[in-house]
Amino acid sequence: MCGIIGYSGPLEAKNILLEGLSQLEYRGYDSAGIAYFDTASTVHVVKKTGKVARLKEVSMPHHSHCGIGHTRWATHGGVDDINAHPHRAGRVTLIHNGIIENYHSLTQEFSLEDRLVSQTDSEVAAWVLDSFYDGDPKSAIKQLVERLEGSYGFCVMFDDRPGEIYGIRSVSPLVAAYTHSGALIASDLTALIPYTRNYFVVPENHIVKLTGYKISLYHMDGSPAVPETLEVNWNMDAAMKNGFPHFMLKEIHEQPEALKNTILPRVVRGLPDFTDDQIPDDLFTACAQVHVVACGTAMHAGIVAKSLMEPALRIPVTVSIASEFRYEDPLIDEKTLVIIISQSGETIDTLAALRLAKSRGSKTLAIVNVKGSTIARESHHILYTHAGPEIAVASTKAYSVQLAALYMISCRMALVRGNFSRDQAVSFLTKLLDAIPAMEAMIAQKDVEKELVTHLIQQHDTFFMGRGLDYAFSLEGALKLKEISYIHAEAYAAGELKHGTIALVAPGVPVIAIATQEHVFSKTISNVREVKARGAFVILLTKEHKDIEDGLADIHIRIPDLDDRFTVFPIAVILQLIAYYASIGKNLDVDQPRNLAKSVTVE
Ligand code: G6P
Repeated sequence: MCGIIGYSGPLEAKNILLEGLSQLEYRGYDSAGIAYFDTASTVHVVKKTGKVARLKEVSMPHHSHCGIGHTRWATHGGVDDINAHPHRAGRVTLIHNGIIENYHSLTQEFSLEDRLVSQTDSEVAAWVLDSFYDGDPKSAIKQLVERLEGSYGFCVMFDDRPGEIYGIRSVSPLVAAYTHSGALIASDLTALIPYTRNYFVVPENHIVKLTGYKISLYHMDGSPAVPETLEVNWNMDAAMKNGFPHFMLKEIHEQPEALKNTILPRVVRGLPDFTDDQIPDDLFTACAQVHVVACGTAMHAGIVAKSLMEPALRIPVTVSIASEFRYEDPLIDEKTLVIIISQSGETIDTLAALRLAKSRGSKTLAIVNVKGSTIARESHHILYTHAGPEIAVASTKAYSVQLAALYMISCRMALVRGNFSRDQAVSFLTKLLDAIPAMEAMIAQKDVEKELVTHLIQQHDTFFMGRGLDYAFSLEGALKLKEISYIHAEAYAAGELKHGTIALVAPGVPVIAIATQEHVFSKTISNVREVKARGAFVILLTKEHKDIEDGLADIHIRIPDLDDRFTVFPIAVILQLIAYYASIGKNLDVDQPRNLAKSVTVE
């Protein structure tokens, strides 16, 4: 959740930290702060409630070449200047991403009650570290982490060690790079991209030390370790708005390209082929069931996959919310293929689900966007999506590419398991590619959604409904609308609406009905009539050729006539645009909606 950056080098550290925090702000934006050594080796801390822009307004007269910065998503303690990071404790200055679960007992054991000024678990860790510090940072850090329970990514400076930053992590992410501009460490690659393409993931149970002229990695016993250098294929443009007013709109527009980047390198002679991903076919033939686990939008991609895969493969496909799955006793075994989906590759519940699946002997396949992320490194197999960095908190292009990856997996599985002939598989893949121009067409007519939200934004509730795959799409549509427009939205299986929820459909209440599935089309339309009869404001989404009686829909949006299985791609664009323009219409912060964060690394 929280964003972390550290810099040591020849440039003005404050500028690098503040720019880095702007890049990382999507991780949390309750408050922001930096700490730096001035040229006389004195540590200064500046922190402010609110966004990084407020921190940038504070005058910071000293020059500096070494410092750490933090943007916070509050867990322990309210949103105020004191709880903001960095925290000072004796000779220690520290920033933290994660949760220290035993901070209460540490407070008592180390008699910290009278020293703590904040309500944070992070300050407790800072004081414990100070109590172990006798001039040897690595030894003190080792003793600290032996006492901690929970998750953490820390960057630490010691008063008597100007120019040095120490990093350590457990679960929470940290990446580091030595560049022409100096040494950098951050919670996310987006903060490093302006300086380098080469980086390494700080391994758990290792200590990394940054100075102005090098980065060193150590095992916990203090012996040197060799980092594994990775290369990122994103560039700076990918992390900029490039003329779009918001990242979300830019990312909606990037979807056709992201789909091509994800699909085309994996097409060989018209068939999906995962040879380069080192995913063997026996992963697909050996399993008796599939279990998909994820959170949020990624989980919604999983629900679409279930509706797609089960009829094609004729084996059980189960979808679980990762935060539930990890505390259940799931019915999985060595004959289960567990597909883990995560844009960031760092969501803590999804990571825990992956570890549980492995402990039960299941084979794991992770669909991940961020290269080298923890989930990618721990999964048996990885299928990277190539969406580039997704900055807006509301996920758009990551959802589409997750779907594309799942569609390709489904096709390959059906082929190697004998459910699809070669021709059927080729045809399936051709239809998947046909969905890309259909998305482009929906993006081109975005003014339709811009106009229709005028009614939506005056309402408190909105209902989404559909049957089968259309219901799966509705779930994501409702989530998008809720998270960025703050309009209450619920998705219902169309036939279920009358078992309670229809009581809330009063005159003018918007109902967004999705009816793209041929075999249940007339049933869904009957349900639309039921809500229309109660005065609902109906926004109906169908395929191009459908005739609809006059008066049924207040607004009727048509998508190209795709095969039923592929309508999610243009429908996703429409639902994303509805949410986007609703947020704009209410004058809200589209890219950084209240209370949310992009990467959820706490439980
Ligand atoms: C957060 C984000 C969502 C995302 C979910 C799962 O809630 O705001 O957009 O879908 O986490 O994230 P992941 O990185 O695991 O896909």
